[in-house]
Amino acid sequence: MKNLLIILFLLFSFQLTAQNSTPYANTSLVHLKSISPEIEAALHDLDVTFLSCREHQSSSDIIVSETALNWLSNNEVVFETLVSDLKQKIDNDNAAMELVRSQRDGEEWYTIYRTYDEVQDKLVEIANSSSVATLIDLGDSYENRAIKGLKFSTGGNDKPAVFFNGCQHAREWVTVMATTYFADQLAQQYISDSFTESLLDLVDVYIIPIVNPDGYVYTHTTDRYWRKNRQPNTNSSCVGTDLNRNWEADWNGGESTSTSECSDIYVGSGAFSATEATVLKNYMESIPNLKGHLDIHSYSALVLGPWGYTNTESPDHAEIVSLGNAMNDAITNTNNYPFTFGVGDADGAIYLASGTMPDWSYDELGALGYTFELRPNSSSGGGFELPESQILDACAENYNGAMEMIIWAADIQSGCMDASACNYDANATVDDGSCAELDECGECGGSGPSSGYDCDGNCITGETLTIQLEDSYGDGWNGNNLTINGTSITMNSGTSSTEILCYDSNTCISVSCDGGSWQEEVSWTILNSDGEELLIGGAPFTGEFGNCSSEIPGCTDPLATNYNALATFDDGSCEYSSATDVQIISLPLGWFIFSTYIQPQTPAINDLVSSIFEATIIVKDAEGLAYLPNWDFNGIGNAIDGEAYLIKLSENQNLSISGTKIIPEDFVINLETGWSLLGYLRDSPANLVTMLADINEQIIIVKTFDGTAYLPDWNFNGIGDMSPGQGYQIKVNSNVSFSYPPN
Ligand code: ARG
Ligand code: ZN
Repeated sequence: MKNLLIILFLLFSFQLTAQNSTPYANTSLVHLKSISPEIEAALHDLDVTFLSCREHQSSSDIIVSETALNWLSNNEVVFETLVSDLKQKIDNDNAAMELVRSQRDGEEWYTIYRTYDEVQDKLVEIANSSSVATLIDLGDSYENRAIKGLKFSTGGNDKPAVFFNGCQHAREWVTVMATTYFADQLAQQYISDSFTESLLDLVDVYIIPIVNPDGYVYTHTTDRYWRKNRQPNTNSSCVGTDLNRNWEADWNGGESTSTSECSDIYVGSGAFSATEATVLKNYMESIPNLKGHLDIHSYSALVLGPWGYTNTESPDHAEIVSLGNAMNDAITNTNNYPFTFGVGDADGAIYLASGTMPDWSYDELGALGYTFELRPNSSSGGGFELPESQILDACAENYNGAMEMIIWAADIQSGCMDASACNYDANATVDDGSCAELDECGECGGSGPSSGYDCDGNCITGETLTIQLEDSYGDGWNGNNLTINGTSITMNSGTSSTEILCYDSNTCISVSCDGGSWQEEVSWTILNSDGEELLIGGAPFTGEFGNCSSEIPGCTDPLATNYNALATFDDGSCEYSSATDVQIISLPLGWFIFSTYIQPQTPAINDLVSSIFEATIIVKDAEGLAYLPNWDFNGIGNAIDGEAYLIKLSENQNLSISGTKIIPEDFVINLETGWSLLGYLRDSPANLVTMLADINEQIIIVKTFDGTAYLPDWNFNGIGDMSPGQGYQIKVNSNVSFSYPPN
């Protein structure tokens, strides 16, 4: 019954979300390298959907029907297919998420994209568990959904404030996760991290994850790639306004705007015609001392400062660049996922845009208004559907970037406050944990010279490589990196370039090339200083050159603690455990049954008795298998812990066994019905009846090597004590298990 309920639940919740793929039946997602105005016009006629929201661009992601796909092929337009069946991709993603939706603890909440309702619950949960966070309700959307967020404040009414929002654009799902995570972390760090605590004492923080709730819900129920809000337009059947074109900052100014109600970048019937823009405007105007605003979007891996509607530098340009770079570096350094900072069109990294929210914050409220475009950097990284496995990475990046804005607004001197550190900052009022030491090259916080070079940048070996990089299309390597011996090189533009690298021809140099798109255009050649080709390849590639013998150095002794099964020759690195226990067993001439309480370092029977090799005639186990030293024949193999062995010697001997002591009470001995050879695992003698009390019922007889016996049925113990070093023949009437009492 419970399973049935779960299945019904899955089917039901799956259907709630499954419809958002319907508009994409029989479509593909393709990436075009370049678009001429003619191609663009033709594509518009073929009713394709442009995902990048800009006209006449050098590269573009578009959703195409089969007809449009055929048209592209027939007209020899260069394109890359990113997703061949878009509906299937969305459906698969939905199904995968439904499987883990019920997991909500801690970071698990951030492993799938969450719905509007789930985010509202999370906001309540954060507010309830935090002394600084309060749930705020900014107002209702066009379809009457609450636009809620959290206000972090330790009191006061005129503190510098910063405002963060996600999801002006409905399909940019990762922005909802990243802003919710930001609030969640901020609440936790306020408790556990004194730096965060001191920041929140100085600054009020507003975080609104979903400012376009109607659009967001619509991307879950009906159309995965919906961008605008869901407000109807008079005189048109097309619904929605692009919220980030509806603000009164160069409103309808013509930079990436449209006055067509059907366009994804429709500006609205007037500035603030969109309900949600007005709700946000009113709320933001009520914040007394707003210093900074961050509008979070995806995707492109960018940090953008004002203005966005013109390339003209703003009056606060220097400060905007300084904070922008700080945020950009903090993001990039989180996971080494490179972001780019710029203002205006960011040197062509993005288009100008009129009527955006952060420009309004800057022009009307005097707050520095920035845009983040989170992961991925391109459509090939998943576009609006950043893989769920990367949500937490994106969240951490956004957190570190956004924290820089809080630090900036707090206007504190954060730095290293440890006077012994090389980057000690005497003016710092808050330690930011950045204290560093000098590296071997005397660089503060450095990590030493790069491989092959000394601290002065000289090539230590004197050997250099020339690397020739080529791109057949002529537009650089599109993000691919050639990594040689840990040093990465790439080509950002053009057809070819040359790099020189230091190396050591006595070592094995590993080479890889990967990480970008258009890999079939990439090729490279590695030459030594005599101009000899050492390696040629493209992308993706992994390989090596130089002195790459297959010998693997390491410890080849299985008894060593650092034994390396893969090592092919012993390099003298073996280490042995110093905690060795030793048992010395005195063995009489003739037959004897011996056992040990040591787990031997060398369990092979021939190794175990190698010190008494000369005197040993035969060793036998309970099954009659034998080790015959004179024949160099070991039919027993390894001695088994807990078992005993028959041995016949030509003279008295002391056998010393070293290894680790067995803990008797932890070691379970299993005896099968019939005869066995039983070892004694304690380090001192003790009465046999006490030792075997647990299996007394099953014992028929126990015998020593010289024939004395214990017969429980007769209540007769001729053996007396069991002794370390001795073994016993035992017969039981059923399979039994027991352990000896502790030493
Ligand atoms: N991609 C976002 C949009 O189309 C942000 C654009 C902001 N542009 C800029 N140059 N700052 O709304
Ligand atoms: Zn956006």
